[in-house]
Amino acid sequence: MQILSVTGGAPLYGTVPIHGAKNSVLPILAAAVLCRSPCVLHNCPQIEDVDTALEILKCLGCRSERRGGSLFVDASGMYGCEIPVELAGKMRSSIVFLGPVLARRGKARLALPGGCPLGARPIDLHLMALRAMGAEVEMEGGHVCAKAQTLAPAKIALPFPSVGATENAMLAATGCTGCPEIWNAAREPEIVDLAGFLTACGAKIAGAGTGRVTVKGGQPLTGATYTILPDRIETATFLCACAACGGAVTLRQASAETCRPLIALLRESGCTVNERHDVLRISCAGRLKALERVTTGPYPGFPTDAQAPLMAALLRAEGRTEFVETIFENRLRHAEQLRKMGADICVDGRKAVVTGVERLNGAELLAEDLRGGAALVIAALSAEGKSSVSGVKHIKRGYDRLEENLKSLGADIKTVEIS
Ligand code: UD1
Repeated sequence: MQILSVTGGAPLYGTVPIHGAKNSVLPILAAAVLCRSPCVLHNCPQIEDVDTALEILKCLGCRSERRGGSLFVDASGMYGCEIPVELAGKMRSSIVFLGPVLARRGKARLALPGGCPLGARPIDLHLMALRAMGAEVEMEGGHVCAKAQTLAPAKIALPFPSVGATENAMLAATGCTGCPEIWNAAREPEIVDLAGFLTACGAKIAGAGTGRVTVKGGQPLTGATYTILPDRIETATFLCACAACGGAVTLRQASAETCRPLIALLRESGCTVNERHDVLRISCAGRLKALERVTTGPYPGFPTDAQAPLMAALLRAEGRTEFVETIFENRLRHAEQLRKMGADICVDGRKAVVTGVERLNGAELLAEDLRGGAALVIAALSAEGKSSVSGVKHIKRGYDRLEENLKSLGADIKTVEIS
């Protein structure tokens, strides 16, 4: 088993590059099955979730190849329509293959998706969107089975702007003859990126990034060359790491525009954040100030994925910060681990109140989900003494070269094999 061994206490100084967004590349790899000729995707992170998506493509009969940060995907010979539990169970994003496989093949059979245990994570909105377009969708022994001779245009009104359901609806809609509309669509930058890719492949999409997305479907898509947008959650993780430890960190190939709520909160807590083109620079000295309240919400609200990293950054801030998690019902599990380091956190349902302490101490920590795991690493870097973080597999699902990049900033962190 691997653990991360971290000796904290050093400020972070230096420059790191931000990779392409995990939550963008995964739906775009699913979208590639719609293309009758090869696609080339640049700026793809080398993470386990991407490896899983490539295995799914292989099992559907698509060819793929990685060359550094670029992926080549050829779905011209795609023949499969089934994703088995060994693959679907590895990550939540496997569900986003449902819409495009259905649109391309007229049928799809998927084992239920896995992913981080953040709560119930139902898929009812995904299924509702497909049913609205005329698909027959049934559950059969842990599998979702969908079929449709043709998909028909519909007005799909989502009761909540789910990121995944919006993506599935957009992807299936490319196979409709007509012009489906998605109302109360998610407005996340990754939705805009997916629309950008689909448009490059010849789809006609309007309104991505607003609450109403329309797709003029029915045209076969051709492959395109596309560059994945920068990962705003990886960006958030490095910003919060510097806020927690002090120092000055420059992030290259980042997008400040997609990180507005976090940047505003970090400035409020006393950090200096400068932006220039695709470069973000944060510097922090002295104790941070607590924030009154941080409430997660759909974009352009504060991202649920950045809640745990920001909590880690504010554990030693002066005063009390209240975190309210509105997206997922079980996304405060890192609090229990952080308490082992001496953090003062009271959790009540979806609310956590953090009262800043003078110092944190190293401890043995267990990562139980991806972003919660990143928060433990941040807290360990800012604590005095040695910590160990197990459950590293969760962190590796979503961060490309996290350890190397932190090391390059002066962090004392290494992977250790233990039996
Ligand atoms: C995506 C991201 C995840 C991020 C989340 C919120 C990917 C692979 N994952 O997850 O990292 O934390 O957005 O930004 O891009 N819901 C339903 N029924 C559904 C679908 C969702 O009730 O059919 C609920 C969920 O339980 C949750 C909320 O809607 O409470 C948000 O979920 P959603 O936006 O769909 O998140 P994901 O696509 O799972």
